[in-house]
Amino acid sequence: MLKDKNIIVGVTGGIAAYKVVDVVSRLKKQRANVEVIMTENATKFVTPLTFQTLALNPVYVEMFKEPRNWDVEHISLAEKADLFLIAPATANIIGKIANGIADDLLTTTIMATKSKVIFAPAMNTNMYLNPIVQDNIDKLKNLGYEFIEPGVGILACQTYGPGRMAEPVDIVEYVINSFKEKDFSGIKIVVTAGPTIEPLDPVRYITNHSSGKMGYTIAKLASLKGAEVVLISGPTHLEVPKNVKLVRVNTTLEMFNAVKEEFDSCHVLIKAAAPLDFRPEKVFYDKIKKKDNEDELNIKYIRNPDIAEYFGNRKKDKIVVGFAAETNNLVQHAKEKLKKKNFDFIVANNVKEAGAGFKTDTNIVTIIDKDGTVTDHPIMSKEKVAEIILDKIKILLNNKG
Ligand code: PMT
Repeated sequence: MLKDKNIIVGVTGGIAAYKVVDVVSRLKKQRANVEVIMTENATKFVTPLTFQTLALNPVYVEMFKEPRNWDVEHISLAEKADLFLIAPATANIIGKIANGIADDLLTTTIMATKSKVIFAPAMNTNMYLNPIVQDNIDKLKNLGYEFIEPGVGILACQTYGPGRMAEPVDIVEYVINSFKEKDFSGIKIVVTAGPTIEPLDPVRYITNHSSGKMGYTIAKLASLKGAEVVLISGPTHLEVPKNVKLVRVNTTLEMFNAVKEEFDSCHVLIKAAAPLDFRPEKVFYDKIKKKDNEDELNIKYIRNPDIAEYFGNRKKDKIVVGFAAETNNLVQHAKEKLKKKNFDFIVANNVKEAGAGFKTDTNIVTIIDKDGTVTDHPIMSKEKVAEIILDKIKILLNNKG
């Protein structure tokens, strides 16, 4: 994902420096070219050799050492950087950069770079909350520097509060996302995800196997690509993607109403949810009791609204993308839904197939366009499916001008 990207990691003197070893290792696994600059204080926590061994590059510490090559190091590193990551970022480095102090190799290189600079602060809670530090952070944010917010927890100094450096996995995800093109800025996308549930009595309900993974993955990627995303979700156990507005619903009627709230102001509606088509006609006030003389329980179900059909047929110049969950005659059924629900295209999956449909991290989809073009895709991650869907939507948006 980070192939050929030059990432300069600036390590400053804090105990969280040991976690940056993991950050560098993860960046290398993403195939980035990583160069590390350490402050003198950082070398007290982790040796340059550790970073050198992982980054497979020399580690820079001293400003006036005999140069390894005849480029001036702070200028050549500053210029080659596609991204600069300062982790851990102490109150000291934040203060120096905010106040224009360049007195060592790391600070001079940060001053000289035109690349994006991201700080991952780590410090004692009182230091982090100190108004001077907060002012410096605000000043840098206003100048376009980015911050990966520290977590809250027990710190090395045994105090509890904000100041713990973000986890390496989150830092690397932030770096990867920084390189994603923001080609959906100004576009509002509504994504429905997960199952709906229909109550029968206070202890029972009917539902289906949808985990929400497909819809959440689309919502996350759309947000990373700069879209304003509203995720309307039935009950799931998934983590809500960052910067996504989540609207939780239970029933199909609730999902219908939630879509109605957002539809007028959106550009795109993606219907990845699996809403129940029927609901019990009556929701019992008390638990249904089994009776000794009854071997059957007959429940009458009534139709739920078809959300996709309702909005598909009122979409005017909006883009509406549907899914089809089938168990047989995939293309035929999907084509019927494409037409009836007036989708711009439909993503069909056979939920009986291994690696496709419900709960899996992968999917096997067939995409059918309005003109009848059928494209079969092999098994791939739901992230990749989301990428294909959003690429198609981008083309449709561009065609609309
Ligand atoms: O959530 P996961 O575990 O990741 O699983 C992914 C998935 C299998 C749920 C997803 O890939 C998928 O296929 N979603 C659509 C499920 C479905 O309800 O399919 P359908 O063929 O019954 O409906 C066709 C379309 O109409 C769908 O876009 C559906 O969201 C929509 N619909 C259906 C019924 C209804 N009452 N209202 C609707 O809007």
